[in-house]
Amino acid sequence: MKTEILWLLKGSRDYLSGQELCGRLGVSRTAVWKVIKQLQSEGYKIEAVRNKGYRLLEGGDVMTEAEIKSCMSGEGRERRVVCYDETDSTNTRAKYLAEEGAGEGTLVVAERQNAGKGRRGRSWVSPPGTGIWMSFILRPDMAPSQASMLTLVAALGVSEGIFQTVGVRPEIKWPNDLVLGGKKICGILTEMSTELETIQYVVVGIGINVNMEEFPEELSQTATSLYMETKKTWKRAPLISAVTDAFEQYFRIFLESGDLSALKADYESRLVNMNRMVTVMNPSGAYSGVCRGIDRNGELLVEREDGQLCHVRSGEVSVRGIYGYV
Ligand code: BTN
Repeated sequence: MKTEILWLLKGSRDYLSGQELCGRLGVSRTAVWKVIKQLQSEGYKIEAVRNKGYRLLEGGDVMTEAEIKSCMSGEGRERRVVCYDETDSTNTRAKYLAEEGAGEGTLVVAERQNAGKGRRGRSWVSPPGTGIWMSFILRPDMAPSQASMLTLVAALGVSEGIFQTVGVRPEIKWPNDLVLGGKKICGILTEMSTELETIQYVVVGIGINVNMEEFPEELSQTATSLYMETKKTWKRAPLISAVTDAFEQYFRIFLESGDLSALKADYESRLVNMNRMVTVMNPSGAYSGVCRGIDRNGELLVEREDGQLCHVRSGEVSVRGIYGYV
C-alpha cells in the first residue's frame, strides 16, 4: 500500500483527499493516515491540510522498497525488491536469496556495503548516501559460457538508464566499466552458479557513483560521480528504476537473439575503446592494436599492426587516455 500511496501522491500536482486515497486503495482513512506518518518519518515532506488532503512537497533521496517501486512502471512494480540499510555485499545477499529460490528479476539494494566486492578480488568502497549498490538475480536458460555477455548487456542498461535520467551518456570501457569524462562512474560484477553445465542463477552487481563530491586520493585520478560531472545531485531511486527498465529491455532483446548481434551497434556507439589504440594484457603477454568493436559473442575485436584481427575474450584492456593510460 505504501508504494501505491507514494505513486498516487507523485502523480498528483494538487492535494489528494483522504477519501480519494481510501476509495482507490480500498482501505480505511486510519490506514492511509498511518502510512502518511510512516512516509513523513522516512523523510518525505507531505503536507496534510484539513478538508483538502495530502500533497507531496519534496521526495528526498530515500532508498526504500516503496520508493524504488513507486518510481517503476506498472509491470516493474511486480518485481521483488529487497532493501538493506547496511549489508556486506548485495551480490552476496543476492546469492543467498537465489539459493533460497528468489525469482528472476529480484533486485537487492543497499544504502551501504561493508564488504563490497569489485572484480579480480578487489574491494569496492560503498559509503552510505552517495551511491547505488545493487544486484539483480537472473535465471537465463543458456550455457554458462554465454553468461559473460550479460555483463555487456548490463553495461548498456546502465548507460541508457543514466542517459534517460541525467541526460549524459556514459561510454563503456569494454567489457563493463562505465566512463564519464575519462573516469570510471560505474563498475559491474557478474557472478554465477552452475550445475551440470546449466546456469542455476546469475547475479549481476552494479555500483554507480552518484553524489560523491570527491574521492580518496588513491581513486581521485580514476573515479568520478554523476555529481562531479554534472554539478547536480541526483535522487537514486529514479535512477535505479531507469537502469532497471533499460536493462530489462536489453535483456529481452538479448534473450530473443541468443547473442549480442542485435545489440552490437548500440554497444559500439557507446564503446570508448572504438577505433582507439588499446593494449591487451593477457597471461601470455601484452600486445597493442586498434579496437574495431565487438563480435556477436561480446569479444573485443583488436586489429594488430600486421592486419590480424584478434578476438579478445577476457583480460585487462587499457585504452589510451582512459584511467591515466597514455
Ligand atoms: C568492478 O568494477 O570492479 C566491479 C564493481 C562492482 C560493485 C558492485 S556494488 C553492488 C554489487 N555488490 C558488490 O559487492 N559488488 C557489486
